[in-house]
Amino acid sequence: MPVPYRERFQRLTALLAEWRPLWQPLPFQYRRSPWCERFPVLEEALLALGAADCERLQHAPFSDTPLAAWLPVAELAQQVSLPPLEATPTGLPPAWSQHVGGRKWRQIEAFVAHTRAEPGQALLEWCAGKGHLARTLARHRGAPVMALEWQVSLCAEARRLAGRQGVAVEVHQQDVLAGEAARWLGRQTHVAALHACGDLHRRLLELAVSSGSAVTLAPCCYQRTAVETYRPLSRQGRQLAAAHELTLSREDLALAVQETVTAPRNVRLKRERANGWRLGFDLLQREIRGQDSYLPVPSLAYGRLPEGFADFCRWAADQKGLTLPERLDWAALERAGRQRQREVSRLELVRHLFRRPLEVWLALDRLLLLEEAGFEIELGTFCSRELTPRNLLLRASLPL
Ligand SMILES: C[S@@+](CC[C@H](N)C(=O)[O-])C[C@H]1O[C@@H](n2cnc3c(N)ncnc32)[C@H](O)[C@@H]1O
Repeated sequence: MPVPYRERFQRLTALLAEWRPLWQPLPFQYRRSPWCERFPVLEEALLALGAADCERLQHAPFSDTPLAAWLPVAELAQQVSLPPLEATPTGLPPAWSQHVGGRKWRQIEAFVAHTRAEPGQALLEWCAGKGHLARTLARHRGAPVMALEWQVSLCAEARRLAGRQGVAVEVHQQDVLAGEAARWLGRQTHVAALHACGDLHRRLLELAVSSGSAVTLAPCCYQRTAVETYRPLSRQGRQLAAAHELTLSREDLALAVQETVTAPRNVRLKRERANGWRLGFDLLQREIRGQDSYLPVPSLAYGRLPEGFADFCRWAADQKGLTLPERLDWAALERAGRQRQREVSRLELVRHLFRRPLEVWLALDRLLLLEEAGFEIELGTFCSRELTPRNLLLRASLPL
């Protein structure tokens, strides 16, 4: 029996607030995470985990975990368990996937199967990119679809692809955050938004409330927002967050989308090496500055990572205006960084446990905003996590 939305939202608020001291700090920023003092045995248990267990728990944080001795693992697992939403099989011809990446196409197939537009509704794709979803919806329904996109080049590409395939997609170059974006939504509109980021989907929900448009939304990147501190969208969210003193920074919101599709082994190894270098440099910069505090270093595309650890440190020191000592035992420092990387990846397992709860909480906040405005609402999954970890789907429409 699924937990009702409001009850789930209340429990998740309480759980996120109660355990905030454990999931909020980013272990790589500390020599020792702030909670370790209070939970030394938990720290010890995590640090003792082997590589295979660590990797397993990064992807399946609720199963067979030593954290269950300290944290409410079973309850968190229950609160985030959402049913797959009912779908209508589409049997889309494989030829329609032309110009769309394999994984994206399968997401689109799943999304279309879950989009329940009524016959009289006009379909609109929100932040459409190249309009892959809009084209597929138009073909599947045999009716025109509108698509809004901000970038001129993407609009041109969306028009070109639709024209080439003879599909009726009307692309409008539109900044959805601008005031005039409201004109595209009305009581007879059904808006489809696949992986629309933070403020972009927030705007959609606000306009849906004011216009009465139906919405099928897979939200994404909650941290892409202009505000520093999260202000819940729903009234219940604001009340509960205030009552539990749950404040969320933009950095906290990023945790909700931290789960990614499992990368190939070579990519993971490269990422681990880069993280080890960063942590090695962190030890060094604390020495040089004589200050035991974290210093953010800009991110660097993996392809642009220097060849060796010493070169990386020279680059990072340069970025931060630091002068490196003449002589350094680079090998020892690199080993120390690697060791810290191993520890950090284990301590981060506490955060992984709260990743999905935070994501579900944010999705429920969106859902409840619509419910408070009189919409009929549904939240569940539209595809497997393997296809995309951003697999939550929110469906909402005003009663006919
Ligand atoms: C994450 S992509 C999603 C694209 C598409 N829905 C998909 O799933 O492939 C977000 C899209 O939003 C567009 N975008 C960003 N800011 C926008 C704005 N202010 N107004 C309209 N579109 C915007 C981007 O150019 C990009 O195409």
